[in-house]
Amino acid sequence: MTNKILVTGGAGYIGSHTCIALHETGYEVVVYDNLSNSSREAINRVSTLIGQTIEFIEGDIRDAEMLRQVFTSREFFGVIHFAGLKAVGESVAKPLLYYNNNVSGTINLLEVMAEYNIKNLVFSSSATVYGDPESLPIDENSPRSCTNPYGQSKLTVEHILEDLAVSDDSWNLVALRYFNPVGAHSSGQIGEDPNDIPNNLMPYISQVAVGKLKKLSIFGDDYPTIDGTGVRDFIHVTDLAQGHVSALNYLEQLTSSRSPSDMAKSVGFLPINLGTGKGTSVLELVNAFTEVTGRDIPHQFTGRRAGDIASCYASADKAKTLLGWQAELSIADMCQDTWRWQSQNPSGYNSH
Ligand code: NAD
Ligand code: UFG
Repeated sequence: MTNKILVTGGAGYIGSHTCIALHETGYEVVVYDNLSNSSREAINRVSTLIGQTIEFIEGDIRDAEMLRQVFTSREFFGVIHFAGLKAVGESVAKPLLYYNNNVSGTINLLEVMAEYNIKNLVFSSSATVYGDPESLPIDENSPRSCTNPYGQSKLTVEHILEDLAVSDDSWNLVALRYFNPVGAHSSGQIGEDPNDIPNNLMPYISQVAVGKLKKLSIFGDDYPTIDGTGVRDFIHVTDLAQGHVSALNYLEQLTSSRSPSDMAKSVGFLPINLGTGKGTSVLELVNAFTEVTGRDIPHQFTGRRAGDIASCYASADKAKTLLGWQAELSIADMCQDTWRWQSQNPSGYNSH
């Protein structure tokens, strides 16, 4: 069986870390990315870290002809599909762009996969599909709802994958629902490199720490949480990357042990949370960052951010039971590794 994996969006934050984890486990990686939110430098650095040139194809998931060329000349076990746009605010301003890129792009990819009879997919979903959760921790059977076009694009793709699995039981469609990915590779060579002022908490903290931004605004101090600030399930990107390897291993085992008469035993549509199962408040994260790095993070409390929820953390049981995966790294590791990346690369991939 081939061990080649097509990684769409593999030049991005989570994709680049996953390329390393895949290589370390013996998978062969081909990255397909249009570089709309990433740079070649990330791929160069991944290649340096693994001591081998990663195959990189600059292309768009909406370009069926280009995808056909990629599938014609190579034999893949499956696809890890990270490619997508992810800024919630931008999705409200540009909904057509988000639906086109994230939903039409995924349909296009699935159609080409079907043409080439590649039926194994690991899709980047998000805890955002749970909306404002009714109960905590959030398990995979919790009701789903979304309030913005970005979240809606993820939920729509999940529905498409569910329908596809019903229509044809040879598909294996794993939707990994990430909670809040943070941190960076322990080398400090790759990490999160937002284009503009960061929307997300950890890159904002680290840019304040390095002096690029003056002060963190903490959005809300009156949530019904331990200290009034929002609570999230922060997960180290290295753990998250390993979760993708575990999902692929699971699919490999399943497909290799299957006799022709077992064809109905495909996983169909399989949603799995990737989180630590532990909630940490915004203030706790800020304090942990200061404790680990010695950097003071000037901050002020401002009003709640529209659309934010009070608390969100995963039940991580399904990933453990089914995939044998669980998060290993601590909040201190997340802060330490973020800081190593940020301090060594104050302007991200443009630093050197
Ligand atoms: P990222 O922006 O760093 O990576 C996404 C990559 O996809 C980028 O390299 C971008 O250039 C590429 N891309 C975008 N549209 C493309 C297209 N049409 N064709 C080809 N390539 C395209 O984001 P990330 O944080 O690494 O996220 C990866 C995936 O995980 C995304 O689908 C995102 O929605 C999802 N996700 C991220 C988070 C998070 O907080 N980072 C949380 C939940 C889910
Ligand atoms: N926060 C601040 N100040 C900031 C940024 C964030 O106080 O400058 C707070 C937020 O109010 C929230 C917490 O920090 O309480 C986390 O916010 P993030 O923006 O880092 O993350 P979210 O939980 O809002 O959203 C993230 C991703 C979404 C994804 C969602 C669920 O950005 O794409 O997790 O997976 F949909």
